[in-house]
Order: sequence, then structure tokens, then C-alpha cells
Amino acid sequence: MAKEKLGVLCSGRGTDLQSIIDAIEAGQVPAEIAIVLTDKEAYALERARKAGIEAVCVDRKQFEGREPFEKALIEKLEAAGVTLVVLAGFMRILTPYFVGHFAGRIMNIHPALLPSFPGAHAHRDVLAYGVKVSGCTVHFVDEGTDSGPIIMQAAVPVLDDDTEETLGARVLKEEHRIYPECIRLYCEGKLKVEGRKVTILA
Ligand code: GAR
Repeated sequence: MAKEKLGVLCSGRGTDLQSIIDAIEAGQVPAEIAIVLTDKEAYALERARKAGIEAVCVDRKQFEGREPFEKALIEKLEAAGVTLVVLAGFMRILTPYFVGHFAGRIMNIHPALLPSFPGAHAHRDVLAYGVKVSGCTVHFVDEGTDSGPIIMQAAVPVLDDDTEETLGARVLKEEHRIYPECIRLYCEGKLKVEGRKVTILA
């Protein structure tokens, strides 16, 4: 079977990207990263280049409107032969135009237990609400925000003296464990999606 070609989209430091690079290099995920794209200058680009992966900044500010920006992303992803789009700390909402182009072939990781605390400030919202458990969620991307079918979740405790940084670090550890695992399952054809429900096949 042909290996899946991943296109990883990032906006920041890229530790989730690094966990995927490391898992592929360790032979745990039967895929290759064909390209890494960012929407602004970000350390993720450097991580990709260090691993010998093509890395391009598609600067959002250079585009008037979301569709021309997404068109540029799609062109780069298609040119690289990408078969699965992996959002790894990509802080832009994708429109139905992009989502429709890669329908069923976009994964995201969110740093909270969805459907609670969607959006860009999950740890802040978790701490403000006072919940005792948080975590992370890997899901397929649909046309809503953080609303697609859930593939896997991992929980961590929220401690009384947590800050966004300490909680974020605890959650990130779990992200680095489950995101490569979900990508592996996808690449091995072990994710069955029926409506909102994702089943992991034996
Ligand atoms: C991760 O915690 C990821 O879950 C979150 O951004 C962080 C990226 O960290 N993603 C979102 O909030 C998406 N809405 P990284 O740059 O170190 O991989």
C-alpha cells in the first residue's frame, strides 16, 4: 500500500509537529511528511527543515481574504502530493472551501476535551470555568470549529495551582502521545467513520 503523504500545518513552535516527525523516524507511523506549511514565520519551519522536510511560510498577511490564502495552501499541498492534512497548532479557522477540498482527510488536535472549551484559548477557558479534568482531543475536521468526529481523547487532572503554562505542558505531553497514534491508525486504514462516530478497527 502506498504511504500516506502528510501535509502538516502549523502556526507556532511546532512541538506537535516534532512528535510526528519523531514517530515517523522511529518507524512507528507508516507515512511521510511531504510538506510543512505555516501561516506566519514560526519555529515549526525550522524543525521541519532540520528533518529534511520542505517547509514553506504562506504568509496570511500577503492575501486579501481567506479564500485566496486557502487557495495558496491547497496549491502547495496538492503540488506536494498530500493525502492527509494534519493541523498541528494551526491557529486559523479553515473555511468550507478548504475543508471541502480535503473532505474527510483533515485531522486536528485541540488542547481540551471537546465538545467542551473549543476555540483558541482552551487552557484559559478551562481554568476560568474551574473544571477538574482537561485533556486533548484528536478529531477529523468538518465545516464547524473544533466540531468534527472525535478519534481519540486523553485526560489530565487540572490542579488547584495550575497556570495556563503548567496545564498546557501537562496536556501537551498527552498530545505528543496520541496524535502520532491517531495518524498511525489512519495510515493503517483502521479508522472507520460513521456519522459522528469513529471506530478503531482491530
Ligand atoms: C497545541 O497545544 C495544540 O493542541 C494547540 O496549539 C498547541 C500547539 O503547540 N492547538 C490549538 O489550540 C488549535 N486550536 P505546538 O506549536 O508546540 O505544537
